[in-house]
Amino acid sequence: VRVALVFGGRSGEHAISAATAAGVMKAIDADKYDVVPIGVTREGQWVLASGDASHWELTSGHLPEVTRESGREVASLGEAGEIDVVFPLLHGPYGEDGTIQGLLELAGVRYVGAGVLASAVGMDKHYMKLVFAGHGLPVGPYVVVKPRDWEQSQSEVIERVQSALKFPVFVKPARAGSSLGVTRVDDLTGLADAIEEARFHDPKVLVEQGVDGREIECAVLGGRNGGPPRASVPGEIVVDHDSADFYDFEAKYLSDSQARTNAPADLPDDVAERIRDIAVRAFEAIGAEGLSRVDSFVTPDGEIVINEINTMPGFTPISMYAKMWEASGLTYTDLVDELIQLALE
Ligand code: DAL
Ligand code: MG
Repeated sequence: VRVALVFGGRSGEHAISAATAAGVMKAIDADKYDVVPIGVTREGQWVLASGDASHWELTSGHLPEVTRESGREVASLGEAGEIDVVFPLLHGPYGEDGTIQGLLELAGVRYVGAGVLASAVGMDKHYMKLVFAGHGLPVGPYVVVKPRDWEQSQSEVIERVQSALKFPVFVKPARAGSSLGVTRVDDLTGLADAIEEARFHDPKVLVEQGVDGREIECAVLGGRNGGPPRASVPGEIVVDHDSADFYDFEAKYLSDSQARTNAPADLPDDVAERIRDIAVRAFEAIGAEGLSRVDSFVTPDGEIVINEINTMPGFTPISMYAKMWEASGLTYTDLVDELIQLALE
């Protein structure tokens, strides 16, 4: 079976996607699958790239990058030869947002993971929350700042935030990942700058009320043969708040000391069960397929608030998706195999 791993891409998460590809290259069963590595440059050029995982690894502070020099340029997927299935290991816009999924649908090529609508909803934190809330899932208070709102009256936006939310708040681009463009704001003074910073990544911005709670993630894997999706054991992100404001890009990928992960998370059984139930419901709410990681907060009184769903979660050294499955008894190699087989069904 020939599997195209597509990685890199045009979003701010380019390097993280390359690191995700390195993770999958190392885990994939080479006796069963022929890997066709396709890198996408930041400009959107596709290249037949190296399949040597060490090229794409995230190593202490080095962010891997696909360039035109990374391999032979190709104008279409057809030039890569016969492909049985594409694993679109792209994070963020132009990859995790339904765009490449639409291209593959048009071309009649099978692919791993969520389809067009679920990918698009999972990428846009505004529509994601609407869909979750519409399914009765717990989301926190937030304010949407559309481009016109901000351009017409910044003071009205700031008043709206002030009356709807309590500080601290998290200001986020609506469509981005890996915490790019996200700022924690503790009082009014930093709000306008944080909105400007987020607008640099996406003209639509979300201001979310901070939730005082533990950061708990849960991996969901689509059911085979149309069976129900299943949830892993939950995992926990523990941030060292002396050195990091929150689980930001640096704490995630650049620092060895600002955050650590525990899988399984040390949680009472009933809380772990509720997390798993909510994760599966969130997966079904957006109509996801294949895989997703659902990130939640658990407050000191055991209340759960969903932060977000990621339809193409990272497979980097700090990423939790594969780790939570390993802690649930599914090896990384078997996980990749199952994801590919789901796409081939
Ligand atoms: N957006 C990053 C890759 C994640 O969710 O893991
Ligand atoms: Mg995300």
